[in-house]
Amino acid sequence: MSPSPRDASPTLNDALQDIAEAVNRTMDRLLTTTELPEAPLMEAMRHGTLAGGKRLRPFLAMQSAFLFNVDSSRARRVAAAVEFVHCYSLIHDDLPSMDDAALRRGHPTVHKKFGEATAILAGDALMTLAFQVLSEPETHQDPHVRCELVRALACASGAQGMVGGQMLDLIGEKEEFDLGTISRLQRMKTGMLMCFAAESGAILGKASEPQRRALRNYAFDLGLAFQVTDDILDVEADPQDTGKEQGKDLRAGKATFVSTLGKDQAKGRAQMIIEQAVAHLKIFEGRAFMFEELARYVMARRA
Ligand code: IPE
Ligand code: IPE
Ligand code: MG
Ligand code: MG
Ligand code: MG
Repeated sequence: MSPSPRDASPTLNDALQDIAEAVNRTMDRLLTTTELPEAPLMEAMRHGTLAGGKRLRPFLAMQSAFLFNVDSSRARRVAAAVEFVHCYSLIHDDLPSMDDAALRRGHPTVHKKFGEATAILAGDALMTLAFQVLSEPETHQDPHVRCELVRALACASGAQGMVGGQMLDLIGEKEEFDLGTISRLQRMKTGMLMCFAAESGAILGKASEPQRRALRNYAFDLGLAFQVTDDILDVEADPQDTGKEQGKDLRAGKATFVSTLGKDQAKGRAQMIIEQAVAHLKIFEGRAFMFEELARYVMARRA
């Protein structure tokens, strides 16, 4: 499922499509197939990555690389790595022991198609593939840069980042959370990986710390707003657009901005957070306009 042109501006839509196509080719090449008996693992990895997806994290990574004139072939590898981690997180997120989802990106989820054990292994293998790709010399000639990428992605995806956020998300089904804790949960499970993506081009380009901080702060807010709009879409979107079942958060008793504030106030909060995100981009004096376009798209999106 690609982003709908009616939600993204024409300029953003063209850029999203171009980047998605280029990064899809890189991912396809990195996801090798085999005739060996373990072939179902690779098929499950390919299903979990190549069958749809908006490719927003690759978009952040590539736009960040463009800002610092980084070679595109290197940036595409980093974009693929962050998308591999994202796809692994979705495969595990959909498991019966987590959100128990049957549909993802308009297709059966990986565990529905390949079985639960294979889905767990496909997620594991995508995560390790991401780090393998970052650590290879084709990603950057300087081993310090490669090491920094590995460290930053590990921090963004682990217990202090995405996985920690997922733990909070599950605890939030049983316990009452205040808005501060829900924000922290959302920033961890969704914001941190976007932060890595937005900073990754700056790491590749050895950009200054103020520029890197600006991108991190932008994406941290963007990620929070993105998760709030995801929670709104769970209530009001058409499954034909999202490619996911509707109403799952309410049924699971998830702690979200929507469950706490109601849909309309949650939208207001998301809008405020988006404005805050864009304010961090001032340092780029208009050169980061694609990030601004993306922020507007997050509010308008229906998928
Ligand atoms: C879905 O992310 C999971 C969240 C973090 C809300 P996306 O909405 O970016 O999913 P895809 O990659 O486009 O399928
Ligand atoms: C998932 O959040 C976030 C991660 C996978 C880290 P959700 O559970 O809300 O995502 P969807 O709605 O299933 O895509
Ligand atoms: Mg979830
Ligand atoms: Mg889910
Ligand atoms: Mg959701």
